[in-house]
Amino acid sequence: MRGRVWYDVSPSAARLTGSLRDIGYDFPTAVADIVDNSIVAGATRVEILVEYDGADSRVYITDDGAGMSPAALTEALRFGTRRTYGRGDLGRYGLGLKTASLSQCRSLSVITRNTRPVVRTCARILDLDDIEQRDQWVIGEPVPSDTEVARARGWLAEGTGTVVLWRGLDRVLPEKRPEGGWARRRLESLAAKTAEHLGIVFHRFIEGVSGRPQLVVTVNGQKVRAWNPFAPDEKVTVALPPQRFEIEAAGVCGQVDLQRFVLPSRDRFSSPAEFERLSGPLNWNRQQGLYVYRANRLVQWGGWNGIRGIDEHTKLARAAVDFDTDLDLAFNINVAKMRVSLPAQLRQMLEAPVNELCILADDAYRKTPRTETRAVPPDLGMAPEVRAATQAATTAGLALRSAAMQAGEWPAWQRIVTVLREQAPETLDTLGLAD
Ligand SMILES: Nc1ncnc2c1ncn2[C@@H]1O[C@H](COP(=O)(O)OP(=O)(O)O)[C@@H](O)[C@H]1O
Ligand SMILES: [Mg+2]
Repeated sequence: MRGRVWYDVSPSAARLTGSLRDIGYDFPTAVADIVDNSIVAGATRVEILVEYDGADSRVYITDDGAGMSPAALTEALRFGTRRTYGRGDLGRYGLGLKTASLSQCRSLSVITRNTRPVVRTCARILDLDDIEQRDQWVIGEPVPSDTEVARARGWLAEGTGTVVLWRGLDRVLPEKRPEGGWARRRLESLAAKTAEHLGIVFHRFIEGVSGRPQLVVTVNGQKVRAWNPFAPDEKVTVALPPQRFEIEAAGVCGQVDLQRFVLPSRDRFSSPAEFERLSGPLNWNRQQGLYVYRANRLVQWGGWNGIRGIDEHTKLARAAVDFDTDLDLAFNINVAKMRVSLPAQLRQMLEAPVNELCILADDAYRKTPRTETRAVPPDLGMAPEVRAATQAATTAGLALRSAAMQAGEWPAWQRIVTVLREQAPETLDTLGLAD
């Protein structure tokens, strides 16, 4: 019997590296993926430097983590790094360092040191021009006159760590006029957006999670402030009892934790400035919903993941959904770690607790005095029996509304309210549903 014949179809390095540049990163999310690696390497400090220098502009991401041996560094620059992953490891595909970097630049250098007693640094460069020219997956050593690599080596004089250096920022700078004022402003604005993004996705690491030293992140020398969506410093934030769900999906099983919060309305926040800050980049309305954390790193937020729609009345409701990397398959995490999908089974389990949260948030929102006159209790001066009847009617209104939510009939409920508003506004008023 003849043996089977195999044909080599290894991918074209020149073509594939090009297409791998477009897998959905933008500048802040690409930087965040590099910072993931620093966190896994045990870093306590990550410094990001976005330096404008016309066409030679560059980005340095420096950490004080464990660093890599020369052999590990070479492996790290392989698309699909060969290694195993433990539980809680933020890495997954062995791609982030390369794909995140090349989504923004043409030349990626990594300079690293993993030995504490002796100062021995090692540097390698992955350059798209070299790969395209040779049509081979190759990395090189920097030339001795490379001042930027020398500068990075200097930073590693104090201890172990890694510097990731992006040059040839063709995706960041305008092709025609990288020297202009516009290019400078663009880099400045990207640095600011990056600081904001890192403060959100790594807020738990910056605040300090159990078992890890606090993480300090700086962007162009400025310390990044953690943005915790649940306003833990506000005294009147309401935390509902936490819940835990066991799920089994896509052949894996594990636990998912849910923590629900009703944030204070504007008038109950400690200050208008804090209310604005907690609004978040998408603003109150679109920042409501589920905040999905994978191994403590926030990967997705905004909206209710198909459980219900975004609604002005429930804008004070936010909830954390936590899963660990053992459930990666069930959550279908994508390479750029910017999107997950909730397993259908979990979505079902979350429906009732999410609707319960939204009822409370809706209540908190309605109690907000929106004008000075509304601040006067509407039942002021009523006879006690009239007040009791009014309260009973409002309770009935609330019960009807919650029942509609729990029955999954919210859109129908909203249609009913619209009809009532047109045909019997006084009934809505009696039930406390007029807005
Ligand atoms: N800052 C760093 N410090 C130490 N090791 C790193 C660092 N960045 C990358 N590495 C190593 O390079 C490997 C490849 O990284 P990456 O391409 O991001 O894939 P992944 O994080 O999914 O493993 C990592 O698994 C890690 O071993
Ligand atoms: Mg990674």
